[in-house]
Amino acid sequence: MEKIRLDRFLSNQLQMSRSEAHNAIRGGHVTVNGQTVRTVGQAVVPTSDAVLFCGKSVDYKKHIYLLMHKPAGVLSASNDKKRETVVDLVEPSLRRSGMFPVGRLDKDTTGLLILTDDGEFGHRIISPKSGIPKRYLATLDGKVTEEMVLRFKAGVTLADGTVCRPAILEKAGENKAYLTLTEGKYHEVKRMFGTVGLGVNALHRESIGGLVLPDDLPAGKYTEMTLESLEKAIYDESYTF
Ligand code: URA
Repeated sequence: MEKIRLDRFLSNQLQMSRSEAHNAIRGGHVTVNGQTVRTVGQAVVPTSDAVLFCGKSVDYKKHIYLLMHKPAGVLSASNDKKRETVVDLVEPSLRRSGMFPVGRLDKDTTGLLILTDDGEFGHRIISPKSGIPKRYLATLDGKVTEEMVLRFKAGVTLADGTVCRPAILEKAGENKAYLTLTEGKYHEVKRMFGTVGLGVNALHRESIGGLVLPDDLPAGKYTEMTLESLEKAIYDESYTF
């Protein structure tokens, strides 16, 4: 089983800086399997060693998974010098180095966004090969017609010649429609509506596979999930769209 340095383990799991971890260890506040350890570079096995800081167990989480309700006006990125990002909205105790949004949403788009530091999981979900449906609610500057529904079903060709996969377009009121895609090309929803002469005034992602944005999760907030619960929801076979 993989071993890591105690100072690194503490700074990863408790969001301490490396020097705070050193002070904690040298100050005698850390025990490993019941023994006080003052050597900052001591090797620990995260999955089996019992590490306590100030008498409290430091639970090992290999990765963090957050389901966020992305608000408008915040950038879907890990960091940015000037603008606020979705990772900035995460409290320090849950923030991880390498945390990123799984599948970007435009700055003005709201809705379901997964944040994680698990690259393998993220890429699996985003990959076009996954075919996982993503459902958006678009507020448009015109009406959706039956002809548009059929065009989207056949696979739209964008202005630059890019061919989109077949998509499901459903009317949802006067100027609103649901659009379900199984891929995530750059500005895909807006560009698809552009091909039929419709502008998108607002865009909201409701779901990724069977994972649906909870009604009671306010914009800007998030909830922590385990990998198992996230995958179970996303790949839920009873989910139909
Ligand atoms: N398609 C878009 O055009 N924008 C988004 O934010 C997501 C999908």
